[in-house]
Amino acid sequence: MRPLDDVLQPIDQARGLPNPHYTSAEVYGAEAEALFFGGWAGLSFAADVPEPGEAVPVDFLGQPLVAVRDRDGTLRVFQNTCRHRGMILVAARKQVGGVLRCPYHSWCYALDGRLVTTPHVGGPGHNTHPGIDKGTLGLIEIRSHVWRGIVFVNLSGTAPPFEEVHRDLIARWAAFEGHPQVYGGADSVMTFDVACNWKLAVENYCESYHLPWVHPGLNSYSRLEDHYHIQADGRYSGQGTLVYRPMLSEDGRRFPDTPGLPPAWDAGAEYVALYPNVLLGQHRDHAFAILLEPRGPARTVERVALFYTADEVAGPAWAEMRAANTEMWHKVFEEDIFVVEGMQKGRAARNFDGGRFSPAMDGPTHCFHRWVAARMQAAVPRAAD
Ligand code: FES
Ligand SMILES: [Fe+2]
Repeated sequence: MRPLDDVLQPIDQARGLPNPHYTSAEVYGAEAEALFFGGWAGLSFAADVPEPGEAVPVDFLGQPLVAVRDRDGTLRVFQNTCRHRGMILVAARKQVGGVLRCPYHSWCYALDGRLVTTPHVGGPGHNTHPGIDKGTLGLIEIRSHVWRGIVFVNLSGTAPPFEEVHRDLIARWAAFEGHPQVYGGADSVMTFDVACNWKLAVENYCESYHLPWVHPGLNSYSRLEDHYHIQADGRYSGQGTLVYRPMLSEDGRRFPDTPGLPPAWDAGAEYVALYPNVLLGQHRDHAFAILLEPRGPARTVERVALFYTADEVAGPAWAEMRAANTEMWHKVFEEDIFVVEGMQKGRAARNFDGGRFSPAMDGPTHCFHRWVAARMQAAVPRAAD
């Protein structure tokens, strides 16, 4: 039996992923290849690079990338490495104007990645050389796709198009497509630096089982029995609630709803982990996204952004309510930290066997484990076992 075959068993017999998937640097590296680089994964928020001419370096599981917005507003992602001697091009967020200039020997790249100038490359005063073909030395572009305010990347360049891979989630939430999803701004973001493997954050997000004990406040109106499972094998899983109450301000205002929604969204909300590292929440009047940034086997930075249904909601008239909504979610997400960190600590126990799943309650978590196990097995040839 291969080591992950246990994970792939039916849920009433399956075990969870073994400890090294949470603790080993070697497995962490293998997962980066198999789970992040081979398909589409979340890199950053589009709002991280708001202005034309802005360049923002991002460490993507050890890969140095840079997100750049050109003068027309198009966002591109490049390998953040100069084609000359491999210098890092952009060390910190900056406004580069029209060109990305390497700080080492000043080779300059246009914002679409073309290599445009190579000073003294043919000797002092000679800015060209027949051996240096600029046309072949542009920055290496990384395939990217922006959906719901998140920049997704496919590092390998071999995944099918994003819209194809995630056709069913796009269809599931089609009622929101084509409507504005407006980034709430500085009062609508949160960051949590958490001492756990990134998968534990996914696993905890997938289930509502922990609600009564970890989120008593939330559970007081949206109870365990109001929830249902969401499972799409190999792509996403999570949970939905049949009871969602929009926030009311002291003077009785509510955030405006997305127009034209089917009635199911009147009192419902859905929470989905889009594999590998993007956690989404969708309500009639706002949405959020949590980007999990792995920082090693036992550390994850969780970045949260809230989105609203109209430009005006991002303006000053709604500032107080936005802040109250951020605070409400901050409390909920904070409540989850001790469990994800506790599960990480639990995995130091050498006799822990991956644990078992509740066949009734843990389906979405097992769905995620099956995806991890299947991808990892596909990435490692059987002969290497
Ligand atoms: S390394 Fe970039 S110009 Fe030389
Ligand atoms: Fe939770």
